Amino acid sequence: MGAFLVLLVAASPAAAASSRCHSGDKAALLAIKAALGNPYHFASWTPGTPCCDWYDVDCDDSTGRVVGLSVFQDANLTGAIPDAVAGLAHLQNLRLHHLPGISGPIPPAIAKLSNLSFLTISWTGVSGPVPSFLGALSRLAQLDLSFNSLAGAVPASLAALPNLYSIDISRNRLTGSLPPLLFSRAPQEAYLRLSHNNLTGTVPAEFAAVNFAQIDLSRNGFTGDASTLFGRAKPAQQMDLSRNDLSFDLSGVELPEQLILLDVSHNAIYGGIPAQVANLTNLNFFNVSYNRLCGAVPAGGNMASFDAYSYQHNRCLCGAPLANPCK
Ligand SMILES: *[C@@H]1O[C@H](CO)[C@@H](O)[C@H](O)[C@H]1NC(C)=O
Ligand SMILES: *[C@@H]1O[C@H](CO)[C@@H](O)[C@H](O)[C@H]1NC(C)=O
Ligand SMILES: *[C@@H]1O[C@H](CO)[C@@H](O)[C@H](O)[C@H]1NC(C)=O
Ligand SMILES: *[C@@H]1O[C@H](CO)[C@@H](O)[C@H](O)[C@H]1NC(C)=O
Ligand SMILES: *[C@@H]1O[C@H](CO)[C@@H](O)[C@H](O)[C@H]1NC(C)=O
Repeated sequence: MGAFLVLLVAASPAAAASSRCHSGDKAALLAIKAALGNPYHFASWTPGTPCCDWYDVDCDDSTGRVVGLSVFQDANLTGAIPDAVAGLAHLQNLRLHHLPGISGPIPPAIAKLSNLSFLTISWTGVSGPVPSFLGALSRLAQLDLSFNSLAGAVPASLAALPNLYSIDISRNRLTGSLPPLLFSRAPQEAYLRLSHNNLTGTVPAEFAAVNFAQIDLSRNGFTGDASTLFGRAKPAQQMDLSRNDLSFDLSGVELPEQLILLDVSHNAIYGGIPAQVANLTNLNFFNVSYNRLCGAVPAGGNMASFDAYSYQHNRCLCGAPLANPCK
């Protein structure tokens, strides 16, 4: 019987992990629960049961340590992010999503989670800065702080992170300019989403060296030349630069060949539309409206799928699908 049990446990690491619970992890989780006022959400978090079985908790199968905490979709949770999260020493994935009652700043305790790779705090009432102490999270790969009330600048400390390749801080109240070296150490194609903030300044020239797969800078106050983001060999599939104050000559720009979406509407972009756009076989959204462009709208390829609304309100664009023919 004893031998049988040992065999069973050895053959089933998941069961082994869930039957265990590190006492430090358990203490930290119970402290989180207490700090939030013992809400109903954590009813399964009872001291008599293994914490790896608790709702929202994920343990590593081999070590039995808590590596994931994912709390989402509960408007009844209120209060600040508890400092007690720092007690989850092995945490790799922290996700606080759709918790509108969670408020206050992002606590420094988060910076103690040295193995954190994925940090999501989104759709919450969290305010204050995007803390520069996030630059201490050397394993951080993905940072999602979208849909909060964060203010201030994107901290330069994020640029030093060697594993970080994805940042989403869209829909906040960010101001200031971008750190020039952001993603200069990115280990792979980068993802940057900063839409709906009040960011200003130019798109850093250093971004020319970053391989963005997706970049969304829409609805900010960026100015100047963003042509450094383009290039035929760039891996970009989605580029949304709409509703800024960008001003550069589009004629000389080479478009990334894998582009699916390109929106540069509502800027002050001049020159003409590169003929190469007609060669982009994957392009299915294209919008250059509300700029200062001139010259012929390219024809051929996918161009027939874009109507006049993709081109409206420019200085002197001409040709189909616009009503005015080129002279
Ligand atoms: C939130 O609280 C209300 C009222 O106490 C309750 O009816 C509801 O089930 C709670 N929602 C969740 C997700 O716990
Ligand atoms: C951090 O992760 C590495 C590699 O995944 C692991 O070897 C190490 O034990 C982890 N440390 C903690 C504190 O979880
Ligand atoms: C940006 O700033 C303007 C003017 O100060 C303000 O009206 C607007 O609400 C701000 N937008 C955001 C997303 O913070
Ligand atoms: C578009 O593709 C055709 C056929 O591959 C090629 O001959 C032409 O040079 C390309 N045009 C541009 C502007 O890249
Ligand atoms: C392009 O953007 C303009 C301005 O925001 C908008 O009116 C138009 O509908 C857009 N076109 C397409 C095809 O989405």
